[in-house]
Amino acid sequence: MHVMESPPGATAVIDGREVDYFCGCGYFCLHGHPEIIDAACKAVRQFGMGSATSRSGYGDNPVLLEVERNAAKFFATESALYYVSGYLGNTILLQGLRDSYDVIFYDNESHYSVLDGIALADKPAIAFAHRDANDLTRQVARHLKPTQRPLLISDGVFPISGEIPPIPDYVDVFEQYDGSTICVDDAHATGVIGEMGRGCFEYLGASGTRLFSSGTLSKALGGHGGIIPGSADLIERLKSRSKIPFASSSPPTPAAAASARALEILQETPVLRKKLWDNTLYAKSRFRALGFDVNDTPVPIICLAGTDADLKTLPDRLLDKDIAISRFYSGGDAYSSVPEGGAVRIAIFSSHTKQQIDRLVEEIARIV
Ligand SMILES: Cc1ncc(COP(=O)(O)O)c(C=O)c1O
Repeated sequence: MHVMESPPGATAVIDGREVDYFCGCGYFCLHGHPEIIDAACKAVRQFGMGSATSRSGYGDNPVLLEVERNAAKFFATESALYYVSGYLGNTILLQGLRDSYDVIFYDNESHYSVLDGIALADKPAIAFAHRDANDLTRQVARHLKPTQRPLLISDGVFPISGEIPPIPDYVDVFEQYDGSTICVDDAHATGVIGEMGRGCFEYLGASGTRLFSSGTLSKALGGHGGIIPGSADLIERLKSRSKIPFASSSPPTPAAAASARALEILQETPVLRKKLWDNTLYAKSRFRALGFDVNDTPVPIICLAGTDADLKTLPDRLLDKDIAISRFYSGGDAYSSVPEGGAVRIAIFSSHTKQQIDRLVEEIARIV
């Protein structure tokens, strides 16, 4: 076990040592941003840690409402719903939309939060092969009865592989079925992909009234909690049909204030996204030059897969050089979207320097 003793950033203090940090999901290094920390401190002094009641009573406070206003602005939607953890977003969507679909189709590499949402939805659920629109076509034809309405749910960016699902192909498959719905878990896409950082639908140019996404403010945004952007009607529906947001405590006030400010900062500073994409494309091109099969999307996740013994020991050997990356095992209870044989996951941040990226690539080239 390792212990992080600083905010996550391009460098972090782990086990008492400063390392070049390429792990986790703090893609803009906002968790330690002084304005975000100031916002959290100010709010906690004024409003305390939380309201000690759910939002159905007197639990709303100005900070929670500000997060939802800022999120609606960020996503250019009428409204937004803010709740305690991004993990619950899929459950809230599947519960809130339950009158609109009959059968769930889900990518078989979906994140646990998608699978848990499905388990609570109490509807038939059919898996289709990972990112495979042809298999989706087969599964829908096999399992959907006439008059039934399909709902598809998938990660918008897969957390370890960094892959993006072929949403436009799914939209084409669903076009022939009346009342179809598509939901994505954009935990790793929120703030990161799409011209304005609005996530996977924006990046892929997919739009429509039956496309829904849930995201998180805990990763790229440097705050905490889950967010669902959408129409005022959608948000009212989610509030009335899912008990999670209104029968549980809201995100703590300092986390909410941090999230509200983080949404503003990311919207006011598009150069952050530009830096992240530049760093990502640069790092990916360097890994491709080493012979790794790495995609060329702006998703700041580099997944080096393979059974090579050197890859297995890579994180420990890099840590000896004060560089932190993550290793994930496949099979059994492994994390979702880990390729067969396991993988090394490298996260790129907007504030990594070229020198840090070059040193990472060169140390890996020496070892592998
Ligand atoms: C795809 C996906 N969805 C949801 C979550 C959970 O989000 P949060 O940490 O905001 O609860 C994660 C967390 O790692 C994730 O990878």
